[in-house]
Amino acid sequence: MFREDLLQGKRILVTGGGTGLGRSIAERMMELGAEVAICGRRGSVLEEAAAEMREATGGTVTTHVVDIRVAEAVDEMVGEIWQSGPLHGLINNAAGNFLSRTEDLSPRAFDAIANIVLHGTFYVTNACGKRWIADGLPGNVLSIIVTWVWTGSPYVVPSAMSKAGIAAMTKSLAVEWGPNGIRLNAVAPGTFPTEGAGARLRPSPKLQRSMDDIPMRRNGERHELSNLAAYLMADESAYITGEVMAIDGGRWLQGTGGYSHLVGKLDDDDWADIRDRIRTVNEKDKALRG
Ligand code: HXC
Repeated sequence: MFREDLLQGKRILVTGGGTGLGRSIAERMMELGAEVAICGRRGSVLEEAAAEMREATGGTVTTHVVDIRVAEAVDEMVGEIWQSGPLHGLINNAAGNFLSRTEDLSPRAFDAIANIVLHGTFYVTNACGKRWIADGLPGNVLSIIVTWVWTGSPYVVPSAMSKAGIAAMTKSLAVEWGPNGIRLNAVAPGTFPTEGAGARLRPSPKLQRSMDDIPMRRNGERHELSNLAAYLMADESAYITGEVMAIDGGRWLQGTGGYSHLVGKLDDDDWADIRDRIRTVNEKDKALRG
C-alpha cells in the first residue's frame, strides 16, 4: 500500500506500544522505516514485544518504563528520548477502561481511567509539544480515541468523557500549535478485538455483540488501523490537522439513524405493504384537498 520508506528517518513514540493495537501500530511504523520508542508500565512486556518487533521488521525500537499518570515521570522520559534526537511524531494509544454501571464507580475508579486517558495523554502531548516549540521543530500527534466522543456511551462514562477531552485537545491544539508546524489528529476505531479490551469490556459471553450492529458486517483488521495511522504520520498527509476520523465499518452511524434497526430485517412483501399503507394515506389526503 505504501512506499517501503514512507516513514524513513522519522522517530515516533507510541504510548502503550507493547501490547494490543499500540503494538500493531508501532510495528507497522517500523516496517515503514521509522525508529520507534514504546512506553508502558511493565518492563518485561515491553522488552518481549520489542525483541519480537525487531525480529519481525529488522527495525529499531527502544523501550521506556513509565506510568503516564505521573507528569514528572513523563517529562523525564520524553527528555531522555530527546537526548538522542528529537521525536517527529507521537501516537497517544495508552488507555484504561472497564465496563461498569456508573452509579457503582468510586471516585478512585473514575480517576483510574481519567488519570490514564485524559491526564496521561495531555502530559505526553505537552511534554513533546513544548520541546517542538522550544526547538522550532514541526511535530505530529495522532491520538487513538473512540466514536463515543460523538455519541457518549453508557457503562463506560469515564472513558467516554476522557476520550472526548482528547478530541477537544486535538482540535484546540491544531489551531494553537498549527503556526508552529505541529499538527494533531485522532482516529476513532470501532471493534478491533484485543485481549486487554476484551477482558475489560466484554468479560462475559452475555456481552458479545452481533455483526448486525456493524454495516460492514465484520470487525476491523489491525492492518487497516495501522495503515491509517501510517498515512496520518507521513508527510504526505501534512495538510490534515484537527480531524477525528472514524474507522469502524460505519458502526457509529448505524446507531444514529432512526431506521438503522430495520436494515436486513424487511423483505419485499414488507416493503410492498409499507408502500400500500403510505399510498392509502396519501390518496385519502388528496381526496380531501379536492
Ligand atoms: C468498578 C472498578 C473496576 C470495575 C477497578 N475498579 N475495576 N470499579 N468496576 N470493573 C476500581 C477499583 O475498585 C478501585 O477503586 C479503582 O477502580 C482503581 O482500581 P485499581 O485496580 O487500583 O486501578 P489501576 O491498577 O490503576 O488500574 C487501572 C485500570 C486497569 C484502568 C483499572 O484496568 C488498567 O490498568 N487497564 C489498562 C489496560 C486497559 O484497560 N486496556 C483496555 C483499554 S480499552 P476503589 O475505590 O475500590 O479503591 C479502551 C477502549 C476504548 O480504552 C474504546 C474501545 C472501542
